[in-house]
Formats: sequence, C-alpha cells, structure tokens
Amino acid sequence: MSKRKIVTASLSIAAIGVIYWLFAMPRVEDVAIPDSTESIERGRYLVDAGGCVSCHEGTEHPQSLSGGLALESEFGTFYVSNITPDVATGIGGWTGKDVLLALKHGRSRGGGFYYPAFPYISYAGLTDRDALDIAAYLMSSPAVEFTPPSHEVPRWLWRWTLAGWNKLAAFSLPRFPQEADVKVARGAYLARSLGHCGECHTPRNLLGIADPRREFAGAPLGDGEVEAIDGEALAEWTEEDLGYFLFLGVKPDGEFVGGEMEKVVEHNTSKLTLEDRQALAAFLKRR
Ligand code: HEC
Ligand code: HEC
Repeated sequence: MSKRKIVTASLSIAAIGVIYWLFAMPRVEDVAIPDSTESIERGRYLVDAGGCVSCHEGTEHPQSLSGGLALESEFGTFYVSNITPDVATGIGGWTGKDVLLALKHGRSRGGGFYYPAFPYISYAGLTDRDALDIAAYLMSSPAVEFTPPSHEVPRWLWRWTLAGWNKLAAFSLPRFPQEADVKVARGAYLARSLGHCGECHTPRNLLGIADPRREFAGAPLGDGEVEAIDGEALAEWTEEDLGYFLFLGVKPDGEFVGGEMEKVVEHNTSKLTLEDRQALAAFLKRR
C-alpha cells in the first residue's frame, strides 16, 4: 500500500470512530413502564416536581399534557410535544427504554436528537426509578389526539447538530460532590435535576450551554433578567422566607413574583410537600 493510501485509510477509520462516538445510542436497559398504583401516584407527584405541566399543558386541551405551547428562544420557536399516551400523536406504545432515552439523554426512539428546549440536560440527573414512575403516570392519563405545530428554526439547525452539542454540554457538565446532609441532598436533586431551576437561573455560554461555574448566578431572559438564586443573592432571605416564596410566590418584601416564575410556583413548587420545599430552601441557602 502506498503511504497515501495508508494515511487515507487511517483518516477514514478515525472519522468513522468520531462519527460513531457522536451518534452512538447511549446504553440503556430494556425496561417496562411500571403500572402499579404506587408508581402512578409517585409519578403524579414527580410530574409536578419536574414542572412538566408548565410546558406540556395542552393549548387546545388544557386539562391534559397534549402540548402545543410555543417556546420562543434566540434559536427559534419550539412547540412542546404531546406526551399523553395517544399512539399516533403522543407517546402511546413507548417502552421504559424509550422514556429513559428521551428524558435522560435527549434521544428519540429512532435515534434522533431532541432540541434542548426540552430540558433533558437537567433531567439527566433523574434516577431511573423516578423517570419510569413519571412515565407510569403519563401512561395512566387519558390519551389526547393532537399534533403540535412543527418547530420554526433556522435551516442550519438540523437535529443532528445536537450530536456535537450534547458532547460539549456533557464535557462542561458539573460533577458536584454528593451532599452529606440528607435534606440538602434532596434539595440539590430537586433544584438541579427535577426542578431544573438552572435552566433559567444559570447563565449560558455562546453555544447556549449552562455554565456550571456560575450555577444559579442569574441570566438574561427575553428583554429582562432572571435573578440570581445562589447563597449570596439570597443572603437576606431566611429558609422560612424561601419556603414561603416557593409555596405562595410572595417575596420577603411582600411583592408577588411575576413572569416565568409565576408558572413555576403555580405548577411546581407550590405542589411540593412541605418537606421538599424545606429541602430546596436548605440547599439554595447553602449554595
Ligand atoms: C421548558 C419546557 C419543557 C419542560 C419543563 C418539559 N418539556 Fe418535555 N419537551 C419540551 C419540548 C420543547 C419538546 C420537544 C423537543 C423536540 O422536538 O426536539 C419536549 C419533548 C418531550 C418528550 C418527547 C416527546 C415525543 O413525542 O418525542 C417527552 C417524552 C417529554 N418532553 C417529557 C417531559 C416530561 C416527563 C417532563 C417533566 C419531567 C417534561 N417533558 C418537561 C419542553 C419541555
Ligand atoms: C422558566 C424559567 C424559570 C425556572 C425553571 C425557575 N425560575 Fe425562578 N425565576 C424566574 C424568573 C423570570 C424570576 C423573576 C421573576 C420576577 O421578576 O418576579 C424568578 C425568580 C425567582 C426567585 C426570586 C428571586 C428574587 O430575588 O426575587 C426565586 C427565589 C426563584 N426564582 C427560585 C427558583 C427555584 C428554586 C427554581 C427551581 C425549582 C426556579 N426558580 C426555577 C424564572 C425561572
């Protein structure tokens, strides 16, 4: 073989390796979605704690998670999916594996990529049990036939470009040490994973990847600013203030919260148990 052929062959093998590395499906076990009453009840709570309703509540069918909401972003307009168990337009027929791939890896059943307007980067931290119980609840809800509009994104924003983005995001993903205190650890799980507070409260770099070194340090949103919610920003708040805020949306100065946070309080934090709100408050005060 000539030198040139050897070089070409080596480069092709390297390229195939890189492509495989970028596009390979994450290894996820084949599991069934549980259907016990206990799982469905746990799932109902976790859907609240995960804030799924804020985005997935049906625009045409408000009492369901049939989607349709338009999420505006600097990368385009994304329409939220139907996650009711309708086979043709929702997630009917999905297995536990499909759900884990979507929620924790941002990958669709067919191997495609979801856009990160769906906060799978945060949900990656969910335990498999929680993700599967969420699915148990979704599957127990009534099926609604509804197809949301197609996303309006620039022509260059193909789904496969997310292959590279996911790897970059994974590199910058923080490896936070496990909190020793059980309550604070629960708060960390609620804030970082389920409640995805960082999706709005953590600033992003130019590629739209959240910067872990500035976790909860505040970020721009539309024309405004999302406040910082780290320990420094919340220095004047007591844990009770925070717990009260997460329950009712009232700040220590008596002002009601507005904007996107109003929905977070309505659909998510106000529905948490007192214990979970206290855990969230304890964790945020420690940041
Ligand atoms: C910030 C808004 C937002 C939140 C919160 C959110 N989602 Fe989504 N979700 C989306 C968007 C947008 C898509 C569509 C992504 C795409 O098409 O690439 C989506 C897609 C999905 C899909 C894939 C549906 C399909 O047909 O392929 C599933 C499953 C899903 N979400 C489940 C959930 C669950 C469960 C929760 C709560 C734990 C949740 N989502 C919270 C915005 C959200
Ligand atoms: C969809 C985006 C979004 C998500 C998700 C979100 N927030 Fe917020 N948050 C906001 C916005 C916007 C404000 C400012 C609201 C205002 O101006 O009244 C805010 C305000 C706050 C404030 C008040 C800060 C201050 O100094 O007044 C606290 C505390 C807070 N959020 C905590 C949380 C926690 C805890 C979570 C996760 C459970 C969370 N947020 C998730 C958007 C979000």
